Amino acid sequence: MNGQIPEETIEDIRNSNDIVDVIGEYVQLKKQGRNYFGLCPFHGEKSPSFSVTQEKQIFHCFGCGKGGNVVTFLMELEGYNFYDALKQLADRSGKQLPESYQASNNSRQNQANQDVLRAYEWLTKLYHHLLRHTKEGKEGYQYLIDRGFTDELIDTFQLGFSPNSREFIVQFLEKKGFHPQTMVKAGLLSMNDQNQISDRFRGRVIFPIRNHLGKSVAFGGRSINGQEPKYLNSPESELFHKGTLLYNFDKARSTIRKEEAAVLFEGYMDVISAHKAGVHNGVATLGTSLTDAQAKLLRRYVDTVIICYDGDNAGLQATYKAAKTLKKAGCIVKVAVLPEGMDPDDFITQKGAERFKKEVIDVSDTYISFIMRFRKKDYNLKLEGDRIQYVESVLDELALIDRPVEREHYLKELANEFELSLDTLTQEILARRQKIRPKQDKIVQSSNTNMAKGPYKAKKLLPAFHNAERQLLAYMLKDNTIADKVKEELAGSFNIEEHQVIVTYLYAYYEEGHMPNVSHFLEQLPDDSVRSLVVQIAMMPIHEDISDREINDYIRLIRTENSDAVTIKSLQAEQKMAERQNDPLKAAQIAMKILEIRKQLKNSNH
Ligand code: UTP
Ligand code: MN
Repeated sequence: MNGQIPEETIEDIRNSNDIVDVIGEYVQLKKQGRNYFGLCPFHGEKSPSFSVTQEKQIFHCFGCGKGGNVVTFLMELEGYNFYDALKQLADRSGKQLPESYQASNNSRQNQANQDVLRAYEWLTKLYHHLLRHTKEGKEGYQYLIDRGFTDELIDTFQLGFSPNSREFIVQFLEKKGFHPQTMVKAGLLSMNDQNQISDRFRGRVIFPIRNHLGKSVAFGGRSINGQEPKYLNSPESELFHKGTLLYNFDKARSTIRKEEAAVLFEGYMDVISAHKAGVHNGVATLGTSLTDAQAKLLRRYVDTVIICYDGDNAGLQATYKAAKTLKKAGCIVKVAVLPEGMDPDDFITQKGAERFKKEVIDVSDTYISFIMRFRKKDYNLKLEGDRIQYVESVLDELALIDRPVEREHYLKELANEFELSLDTLTQEILARRQKIRPKQDKIVQSSNTNMAKGPYKAKKLLPAFHNAERQLLAYMLKDNTIADKVKEELAGSFNIEEHQVIVTYLYAYYEEGHMPNVSHFLEQLPDDSVRSLVVQIAMMPIHEDISDREINDYIRLIRTENSDAVTIKSLQAEQKMAERQNDPLKAAQIAMKILEIRKQLKNSNH
């Protein structure tokens, strides 16, 4: 699996990256007992069944069955090969991975995508250089400075400028060896009706759009001379999906985790302005409304998302939509309030960083306060009828809140504002909740059945010998002397085929002189399903000091099954022979015998 990178190097890198820290950068983990739990990044779920064990340095999802160590985690989640995963871990811990091994690396991403990524990297650098250091980029630079950008900000976000020339960028890419056709297909260049190829962003300030790994996969261009459209983005491509990408997520990730909140903006301009104002946990959608996938991504990292959209009516409508989507994903939603007609960038430019943080971000509304404010716009509260309708619609929302304290807080607010009795409102809520309840219970039930249908039934009753094999394996993974004993007495004759595979690799592992280490052992295994099984077994609770007698009991159970299996096999052979010899009576007698043994087996197993 690991090619020719020295074992010590791999081990050193693995040891310097604690699995809880690495996974913690992707998933919000909470400690429960000895393990950490969070929402599984490999399948959609609302309650955490994804666990990480620091002691064993492995992860396991009880929901979807995925499991592995820190390296396989990155391989699965980022689509890396072994080398890429190791490289990221090395970078993360300030270690070196010998460059010479890079050659043997064949990434999953195909060659065309690699080319496109390289082209984006070149262009990002070129645009940035032009803006910062040349007279061709002067007008772009001046535009940004006039808007309050600093050199530092321009460098941090690698902002650039595309000179107003049809040829320049096309020639540059060609000189670097990129095919114009490939570049057109990838959306880097555009082609007009006369088959002329040119840079789609010419004359625009460039905002590189990085994917979650920090690589440019698209550009946004802002016109600086009134040309329409004001903002232009690269078209969707295999590497750039607006619906799943959040702008600045790569840079904001660690601050999001640290501050336990993300701030959601409408576009890159706002993210960058906010960054200047000291808000470093900002991300943005790209001119589209927030999707379920983006909400779920955020949810994996944080509980709280603060929406900070424009203060105009369109912004308000978009906020409402995004708030619903985030709620659905299970987020705690807050809403930052901007003065009518201002966007975050305007506010920061006019009133400064300090006030932005203090008066907008830090005092953001709760979800319900926002909903109350949002709904108010639809009613004329001077009219009695409207007032009642408004209160009703707010009650509908409040009924959805599960925490009684929170419900009561808003009920009081509502009662005060409209001079209604708290008792009456409480009654109304109870009635509503009774109506909603059965529906919610149904949802929970059906999602439970989904899980039971999955490949990893949590509590399936296994035959005794099967359990014995799993138990024994769990001990063998933890203690090489037990593995030695089992090897002597049973060798590879486990009954379950996957278990045979596991012991074969485990014996070899110990023979090579390794000490018990599940996380490391996982890397020796041939495929995902065996790996997941080993993780599952390693997670089983076992006694700290098991007696020899117990071990012997397990071995005996496995042997008995073994000999029964052998007996059945030979009887089946005899039966076939009898059939071939045209002796139906004898064949029937043998069949009876087999049935008898099977019946006995069944009884002794349960
Ligand atoms: P707006 O169109 O509201 O920008 O788009 P604005 O605030 O008026 O623009 P400025 O301040 O004059 O420059 C808001 C954000 O939406 C994104 C951009 O990132 C922009 O920052 N956007 C807009 C896109 O990504 N694509 C679009 O097609 C439009
Ligand atoms: Mn703006």
